[in-house]
Amino acid sequence: MSGTFPAEPNTLATAGGTGRKRLHVITWGCQMNVYDSGRMADVLAPLSYTPTATPDDADMVILNTCHIRDRAAEKVFSELGRLRLLKLAREAEGGRMVLAVAGCVAQAEGAEILARAPYVDIVLGPQTYHRLPEMVARAARAGHGDNPGPVIETDFPAEQKFDFLPDAAAPQGISAFLTIQEGCDKFCSFCVVPYTRGAEASRPAAAVIAEARRLAAQGAREIALLGQNVNAWHGEAPDGSIRGGSVWGLGRLLRELADIPGVLRLRYTTSHPRDMDDDLIAAHRDIPALMPFLHLPVQSGSDRILAAMNRQHTADDYLRLIDKLRAARADLALSSDFIIGHPGETEADFAATMDLIRKVGFAQAFSFNYSPRPGTPAAGAPAQVPEAEKNRRLYALQALVREQQAAFNTACAGLSLPVLFTGPGRHPGQIAGRSPFLQPVHVTGPADLIGTEIPVRIVAAHTNSLSGTLIQERACA
Ligand code: SAH
Ligand code: SF4
Ligand code: F3S
Repeated sequence: MSGTFPAEPNTLATAGGTGRKRLHVITWGCQMNVYDSGRMADVLAPLSYTPTATPDDADMVILNTCHIRDRAAEKVFSELGRLRLLKLAREAEGGRMVLAVAGCVAQAEGAEILARAPYVDIVLGPQTYHRLPEMVARAARAGHGDNPGPVIETDFPAEQKFDFLPDAAAPQGISAFLTIQEGCDKFCSFCVVPYTRGAEASRPAAAVIAEARRLAAQGAREIALLGQNVNAWHGEAPDGSIRGGSVWGLGRLLRELADIPGVLRLRYTTSHPRDMDDDLIAAHRDIPALMPFLHLPVQSGSDRILAAMNRQHTADDYLRLIDKLRAARADLALSSDFIIGHPGETEADFAATMDLIRKVGFAQAFSFNYSPRPGTPAAGAPAQVPEAEKNRRLYALQALVREQQAAFNTACAGLSLPVLFTGPGRHPGQIAGRSPFLQPVHVTGPADLIGTEIPVRIVAAHTNSLSGTLIQERACA
């Protein structure tokens, strides 16, 4: 049997392993959602689900959703409308398509999803997807016996899902994600993450190291460690007593991961300025594999707004931190997130943000108009900034960031940079990879260099990428 889900509800629980079923996952949001989508596919693989590139022939579709801004959440409902038609068409042919909504919208608005889209079979939060096989089985019995309707699992379980995920994972390729920390206890005024992902939790060092080894064995040469507050990661040392004490911070973990054979590059994202400790700063000085690029969101350059946001640091604290980081690693390139028009933001506050950007000089940055999120403190604050004003400020800020990005890229022209090649380029005969500073780099070169790190002479800088020529066809490491 291929391509159709068993029509007989009760056969589903035993359907695993009897025939190939197709799984299509649509992912929105942060890199942690990308990682989760891969892991959900891993969890379903023993039930014979294999990925398919389109929902058209899928036996199960998972929407892995993001709630961070209003627009991100709205996309879910328009996609559901489209999928409903596919599901109806499938049922008209006597088949079945299981429709699941996962991720942060599912967590925050599970009941609303089922009210607006009652044809959804499963709603599951970001912390429950290790239970997907049982949910799929229960969904198949919906409407029968003691299973009245759709399955909804949006609790925050006592157990960590990571302990229940299969070791076997589909290879991610040359550059891989590894989630090491989840959730957040910081409760910034504007942000849904503490509500959708739950309390801050770190995976044990031993589990992270084991997963990194597996990724390297599958061909990953770069590992990006992920967490909503990745630099808040702390874990018990694998043997409870190694150098540096029994509790490790991220700096110590990076040192260990850098020793794994095959791992050429390490990155981590997203960091909070408050959790940037001295050992992690020293790691930027000491670990060649730790790439000289750091995404360190500041959100605003105004102390008044930073306080209103509950960020717990000042603009000056951030600037001093950048100085320390650059003292440790002179060529460190920086990136940030900015929120424009947080409630109460005046023209003077915005000018302070622009001033901070000029002082730091970013290699790139992401900026967003403030979007009120239900249930967060800032959503109900008076002094909401009018949309037109937000747009005006956003436009000005993005122009400044573009200038800085162009200057950074232009300064790379003429340099020799190591590039880790990850795949074919846009044109025939080209291969593409990333510089240490995360810039995409295109060169003419043979495909067998994919997966190696090679020095490249940068010959031209474009807005978002670089082109170069191979200096020699020999791996750097
Ligand atoms: N933990 C990270 C941010 C994670 S959320 C940190 O503390 O910086 C990713 C980004 O989405 C944030 O940096 C912020 O810039 C943006 N964001 C979060 N909530 C938002 C909102 N309500 N409106 C607009 N942008 C928001
Ligand atoms: Fe959200 Fe980051 Fe603030 Fe946590 S620290 S509440 S994830 S913005
Ligand atoms: Fe979005 Fe949830 Fe990530 S809200 S940004 S998917 S943590």
